[in-house]
Amino acid sequence: MINDRLALLRDYPFRRLNGLLKDVEPPRDVEPLVMSIGEPQHPYPDFVTEQLTKHAGLWSKYPPTNGTSEFRTAVKDWITRRYSLPPDIIEADRHVLPVAGTREALFAVALLAVPTTKQRMRPTVLIPDPFYQIYSGAAIMAGAEPVYVPTTEETGFLPDFLALPADQLERAALAYLCSPSNPQGAVASLNQLKAYVRLARDLDFILATDECYCEIYCGAPPPGIIEACATDDGHLRNVIAFHSLSKRSNVPGLRSGFVVGDSDLIMDFARLRQYTGGASPGPILAAATSLWKDEAHVKANRALYRDKFSDAEKIIGSHPHFYRPDGGFYLWLKVGDGEETARRLWASAGVKVMPGAYLSREGGNPPGAAYIRLALVHDRSKTTEALTRLATHIQE
Ligand SMILES: Cc1ncc(COP(=O)(O)O)c(C=O)c1O
Repeated sequence: MINDRLALLRDYPFRRLNGLLKDVEPPRDVEPLVMSIGEPQHPYPDFVTEQLTKHAGLWSKYPPTNGTSEFRTAVKDWITRRYSLPPDIIEADRHVLPVAGTREALFAVALLAVPTTKQRMRPTVLIPDPFYQIYSGAAIMAGAEPVYVPTTEETGFLPDFLALPADQLERAALAYLCSPSNPQGAVASLNQLKAYVRLARDLDFILATDECYCEIYCGAPPPGIIEACATDDGHLRNVIAFHSLSKRSNVPGLRSGFVVGDSDLIMDFARLRQYTGGASPGPILAAATSLWKDEAHVKANRALYRDKFSDAEKIIGSHPHFYRPDGGFYLWLKVGDGEETARRLWASAGVKVMPGAYLSREGGNPPGAAYIRLALVHDRSKTTEALTRLATHIQE
């Protein structure tokens, strides 16, 4: 008999979207444009291919779970530079572990963090809602009770864990936080991050901070959770951050990222991952190492997103609910009924968007239901074309 928790996993958003649009035909005279998926289409640097070729001999080696010291050092140097950390707060060998994309690591962290019971009761996992769907799948498969914490305009699109009933909060074994957030692009301030860390320590849960959009922003660089720890008491206790090359370097197919944080957690994570697998192959680690060392392509990438957000502001900025996010590459637009709007946009404009409801919890009136999410991942001209078509078809 298979694991009965599997039945509790709902269909992934893209499948639900296919279902929603299955009897809807886009117009025949326009190229269909897909803005529903956050898969970066900007170019990645040529040296990725060069590194993969140069290290091709490593395809015949089993890679070590904790990667190479070159990789861990490049990551340490990057994170120290990026967040202006004191030089010795991150030790490459104690605090850093490569992962095969953050998706698998965000799932696996629940297996690491959720004990059989907490305070003799079923543990909870706190999840900002709307959310990256892996968080809830991970909570469910780890046997925890997922607790969805609304992130709305009123909360600045960030979760207010303290607003939860004490019973749910005290049983928390793990809390996910996403900053810049998918889908709203909200960025937690350094003080907010510090408050989240203190709460995690007070209640002894693990704070898993998903920072995979941290290099895509229009104004100031988003602060990070390790920076919050460094500028507070200097400890990384209870904290683990997730970073990825998928969005930073436009290589979602490379499947490469890392986790960084509390050295005890990292040690336990490495132990768990010896069983779950997911070690990054040698050639991929070599390419990833060179990407973490390079900032030029990241700056160019960010500039391209900035231009596209400026285009978006010009094209649909007059929409009453348009706002330019602090980070990430999504537009999160309140349209009234996200599902109905998605169907209409596909039928009349040939533009595929994600209804916010599919990124929220099920039932009741989920916080995402009134929204659509648009990923600005195509080149500038395609994005302009999609937004121009959209402008004539959206209503409040
Ligand atoms: C919020 C968030 N976290 C994590 C990921 C996973 O990225 P990857 O597994 O490519 O590192 C994504 C991908 O879309 C995401 O949107």
